[in-house]
Amino acid sequence: MQHDKILILDFGSQVTQLIARRVREAAVYCEIHPNDVGDDFIKAFGAKGIILSGSHASTYEDQQLRAPQAVWDAGVPVLGICYGMQTMAVQLGGKVEWSDSREFGYAQVRARGHTKLFDGIQDFATPEGHGMLEVWMSHGDKVTELPPGFKLMASTASCPIAGMADEARGLYAVQFHPEVTHTKQGEAIFRRFVREICACQGDWIMGDYIAEAVARIREQVGDEEVILGLSGGVDSSVAAALIHRAIGDQLTCVFVDHGLLRLHEGDAVMEMFAGKLHAKVIRVDASEMFLGALAGVTDPERKRKIIGGLFVDVFKAEAAKLKAGGAGHKGATFLAQGTIYPDVVESGGTKTKKATTIKSHHNVGGLPEQLGLKLLEPLRELFKDEVRALGVALGLPPEMVDRHPFPGPGLGVRILGEVKKDYAELLRRADAIFIEELRATLDPATGKSWYALTSQAFTVFLPVKSVGVMGDGRTYDYVVALRAVQTSDFMTADWAELPYSLLKKVSSRIINEVRGINRVTYDVSSKPPATIEWE
Ligand code: XMP
Repeated sequence: MQHDKILILDFGSQVTQLIARRVREAAVYCEIHPNDVGDDFIKAFGAKGIILSGSHASTYEDQQLRAPQAVWDAGVPVLGICYGMQTMAVQLGGKVEWSDSREFGYAQVRARGHTKLFDGIQDFATPEGHGMLEVWMSHGDKVTELPPGFKLMASTASCPIAGMADEARGLYAVQFHPEVTHTKQGEAIFRRFVREICACQGDWIMGDYIAEAVARIREQVGDEEVILGLSGGVDSSVAAALIHRAIGDQLTCVFVDHGLLRLHEGDAVMEMFAGKLHAKVIRVDASEMFLGALAGVTDPERKRKIIGGLFVDVFKAEAAKLKAGGAGHKGATFLAQGTIYPDVVESGGTKTKKATTIKSHHNVGGLPEQLGLKLLEPLRELFKDEVRALGVALGLPPEMVDRHPFPGPGLGVRILGEVKKDYAELLRRADAIFIEELRATLDPATGKSWYALTSQAFTVFLPVKSVGVMGDGRTYDYVVALRAVQTSDFMTADWAELPYSLLKKVSSRIINEVRGINRVTYDVSSKPPATIEWE
């Protein structure tokens, strides 16, 4: 597996992994390493190009935060981004000035000097014919004097040196962030850098990723055994499929069915993993235990605590059995988790430990220590859409990997108040109708299904009865609410403007097919002030 490689040196930016993602989008292999790897590492790595990330630091405050000399001696193209540009300027004889005002957000940059990096790449042209880029800026300090040999490559009104280049040496730098999606031409700029300026072959595809990830897992695990908690969600499913590809029967999945899953979800998980992939899966049917513990409990936070606590107890008990070994097994030594990159960043746990912590995440830490198991997290470097693509490449059905997120407490927080078995059954059937119709209804403007056009959609059970009339008779039955939202980060969300015809069909099917429900409502509240879930 010999691929051309790009080396990304991380100076501690929150968005360094986005650089890796952009490079991968150009079908080029890359690795992220801390900025202070030694010169020998850089020489041995054999990159065809090097990218220097941004940082939360200032070249003034931190004189240590520099690129190793070998970066400049390697004789390969270098792209400095934000802090990466500033350290390039400082190290090669230019000047950076400290500033106590920060420029943050959207900016229009004028491309100057026609370097190879921007040639033919622009968002629009001014009436005078200057090529302009719409970008995302986030910086305090700025370069005020070009290093010898450099020319101006980009500028804005507030940042006259927003880009610089020494094309003879293959050195390029930009003050803005081409790796974030707000910079519209970001993908084109990275593609230009890695494929043309660095002349990397665009031959790195998901199939290679699988082969390399499989090799890494085999090396890490050796002949030991691994336990994985399968939830039916996208991340744990893809992690399970990947680890199973690598080590087969050395992996045992534990699937705790708490009885609060969607219709046929437990069977679908078993059929896929045990049936099709022939993976070892232990299904623990704990629904009676969960329903018993939830009897009489109406407070949402108490319900969450009970479900979360029991879940951990049940999983730990199974894990302890597997750890102990027996019946031809040595006992498990690894716990695998489907942690993905956004979980890692949110917990401030990036590989190079440089990004500042934003918030801690439930997926990271905790269980492995308590169980005395080593951690295996093969998806730690991937974004959600990459995880989905990996899942499809591993043979998981598209409708399993494109699923909306589903909360750990499941239907427990979608049945308002006390959770009862018959409520859960009504809700499951109503929800399945809603999801089926969302998948089946295409939006003519985009050609996509309404399931694909929404970020999360589900049904909520309201334990109140209302009067209705069906045929000649009066009914007195339960109410459900449909919820569908569009969001990019789940921190804020808009209710989705689903077509009336779709709502009409869903409502009539639920009322006709699910006896016990005679009224369907649609939730038209956005977040904030409402949350996505009702509890
Ligand atoms: P809210 O309701 O806070 O939800 O707007 C934001 C996102 O988080 C999910 N969510 C949960 N996920 N355990 C989870 O694993 C929970 O207790 C939980 N509560 C909310 C919710 O489905 C939405 O995607």
